[in-house]
Amino acid sequence: MSEQMYRVALASRPTGAPTAENFSYEAAEIPTPGDGEVLVRVHYMSLDPYMRGRMDDGPSYAAPVPVGGTMEGGAVGEVIASNSPAFKPGDFAFGMFGWATHGCKPAEQLRKVNPQQAPITTSLGVLGMPGFTGWYGLTQLGKPKPGETLVVAAATGPVGSMVGQVAKLAGLRTVGVAGGADKCKLAVEKFGFDACLDHRAYDNARDLRAALKEAAPDGIDIYFENVGGKVLEAVIPLMNTHGRIPICGMISWYDAGGLGAGADAAMTVPSLWRNILVKHLAATGFIISNHYDLYPEFLSEVAPKVVSGEVAYVEDIAEGLENAPAAFMSMLKGGNFGKQIVKVI
Ligand SMILES: NC(=O)c1ccc[n+]([C@@H]2O[C@H](COP(=O)([O-])OP(=O)(O)OC[C@H]3O[C@@H](n4cnc5c(N)ncnc54)[C@H](OP(=O)(O)O)[C@@H]3O)[C@@H](O)[C@H]2O)c1
Repeated sequence: MSEQMYRVALASRPTGAPTAENFSYEAAEIPTPGDGEVLVRVHYMSLDPYMRGRMDDGPSYAAPVPVGGTMEGGAVGEVIASNSPAFKPGDFAFGMFGWATHGCKPAEQLRKVNPQQAPITTSLGVLGMPGFTGWYGLTQLGKPKPGETLVVAAATGPVGSMVGQVAKLAGLRTVGVAGGADKCKLAVEKFGFDACLDHRAYDNARDLRAALKEAAPDGIDIYFENVGGKVLEAVIPLMNTHGRIPICGMISWYDAGGLGAGADAAMTVPSLWRNILVKHLAATGFIISNHYDLYPEFLSEVAPKVVSGEVAYVEDIAEGLENAPAAFMSMLKGGNFGKQIVKVI
């Protein structure tokens, strides 16, 4: 095929927060599917915090995007050509097509999406990788019990909002932390959190801790770790004995590559370690790509609740592939209101 497609490439590696110069919007030739491969015209693309890590060339659990390579990411679109019996033109599929208008992948790397069940955008958020992450981390590592108290930050994002809702359904008191009054209102009114604190309203961990203590008067049994930084420092001394900390992400440190300016490592690390020791805390990291054996269980449990409205979701949809870098940079700073998606066509 000689028709053109477009992609966003990594133009250079960022130092600190990414800038527009780190990305380039380029034309390319639409690939021709080989044996067993499927060609997809992307409709919606996901923007996720992990993509920040792929821009760096350091040791990690996944290979970095090479300079000049297409930015990595999941997307959903319509099959326009197929050399596999598993897909036919007109089907919808999710795959790791990257930041691009078209993607070509072996059929076994794709997941069929049923547009009759729910809008296809949900395959990127509430019913996709982030929703699954929240469900997995909470149910498998958080091990929630009725009557306990949970705290999660980035509470209105696709991970945090799933964590809060699944915890609420399990009978926990749920306390969210989010950036700004509008997000806190959303957390309480849409996602059913019992309380939500605006982390931007507190200059330091001590003040945030005092507010958390009021919102969680019985202490914290599960801290679902999404952000690190000030929130983590505020939470740790409030953890109850035998508390659980599923370590999912630490977005406040992604640009810093460390604790960041102003943080006191000598205070943070010993205090964290001592709390884990004396309170018998279970702090467990996880990378969701290693746990897809449980994805069918997640889908069968949560998809009906999404369809019925028992589990709510909010999507923030930017228009146009060329605007993906701006939407991504904004999301990393909390500019997104719900799951950040890009409408590609
Ligand atoms: N372990 C895994 O396999 C896995 C898989 C998926 C996601 N994750 C992690 O889960 C976390 C949430 O992901 P998501 O997709 O749901 O993202 P998201 O909530 O849609 O977007 C990121 C949010 O992080 C918050 N944030 C940014 N900088 C912050 C800071 N300095 N302090 C506090 N909050 C800050 C912002 O929310 P506010 O404006 O509300 O602060 C922002 O909206 C991320 O850390 C991500 O890396 C891990």
